[in-house]
Amino acid sequence: MVSNKSMVVEATKLTKKYGNFMAVDNINFDIRAGECFGFLGPNGAGKTTTVKMIQCFSPLTSGTLNVLGMNVQHEERKIKSRLGVVPQEDNLDPELTVMQNLIIYAAYFDFKGIKAQRKAKELLDFFELGEKRDALASNLSGGMKRRLTIARALINNPALLVLDEPTNGLDPRARHMVWQKLRELKNRNITLVLTTHYLEEAHRLCDRLLIMAGGKILDLGTPKEMVNKHIGDEVLELNIPPEQMSPLLEKVRKHIHGSLNLGTSLCLSPKDSKTLMTVLQETPFDLQYQLLRPANLEDVFFKLTGRGLEQ
Ligand SMILES: Nc1ncnc2c1ncn2[C@@H]1O[C@H](COP(=O)(O)OP(=O)(O)OP(=O)(O)O)[C@@H](O)[C@H]1O
Ligand SMILES: [Mg+2]
Repeated sequence: MVSNKSMVVEATKLTKKYGNFMAVDNINFDIRAGECFGFLGPNGAGKTTTVKMIQCFSPLTSGTLNVLGMNVQHEERKIKSRLGVVPQEDNLDPELTVMQNLIIYAAYFDFKGIKAQRKAKELLDFFELGEKRDALASNLSGGMKRRLTIARALINNPALLVLDEPTNGLDPRARHMVWQKLRELKNRNITLVLTTHYLEEAHRLCDRLLIMAGGKILDLGTPKEMVNKHIGDEVLELNIPPEQMSPLLEKVRKHIHGSLNLGTSLCLSPKDSKTLMTVLQETPFDLQYQLLRPANLEDVFFKLTGRGLEQ
């Protein structure tokens, strides 16, 4: 396969088996230079397995994978020198200080002495960890560990940063801070690849997304494209007694594109929201709660992963 320079990752028939178990099943995708690309999917979908192959941590079973124009099977070391890696589980050295964690990591890239010190300090400031530079990594809060792990991934000035659930466990403020930092990195032309379970995060950060389940791709596109294609503009959320759900659906069927029963609430995807609301007002159902809101990626996620807006 001829490598295309504007593509930072090119996966063709990418497959990973653990024994007989198919974790990633013959998938094709490209990631463009400078974009933020997100992997979404339920637990066990194959997201970590896929990003580990991109990070050259896990060999492919079959298919081809080029990263930064190089084949992962032949140029692992060269690729690794230009990658930043944030694993799903923090793997800092708990017995070293914050600063030492960065300095030791820098040494893997032959980055030593005053240059490493300067870079480490810059990164600690960037992630607002300067005050913790001499604290043991084991004494950091969960959110601080996550920020330090991301800081560490940047020590070698990577062209591509691959983050597996970067904001898992962060409080809302820390999450916004990481989003802001990731946007700044993107503005510096670093390509970002991330996995996340936070659909708001995916919507805010990612230029394009890949939704997968059972090792297969369910869809790939921009967040907006996916929402428009699978759900539409708006969703009406209702709370009604469970025994009234079916009769209500029967009544409104011709006014909706689809519906989703979330157990606690019923979501309707209206063809025209005003008409639907009028129809609902004229029905005898006991509507305890109604909210008309813009459709979002969570609706798409439920639809594609099987609990979905079914017609
Ligand atoms: N080392 C391994 N040996 C055997 N099976 C594995 C191994 N690693 C992952 N799997 C299996 O591969 C499948 C995909 O796992 P993976 O970690 O890629 O999922 P994920 O999408 O990252 O899920 P999560 O959202 O829970 O992090 C799962 O069924 C998992 O049990
Ligand atoms: Mg994972």
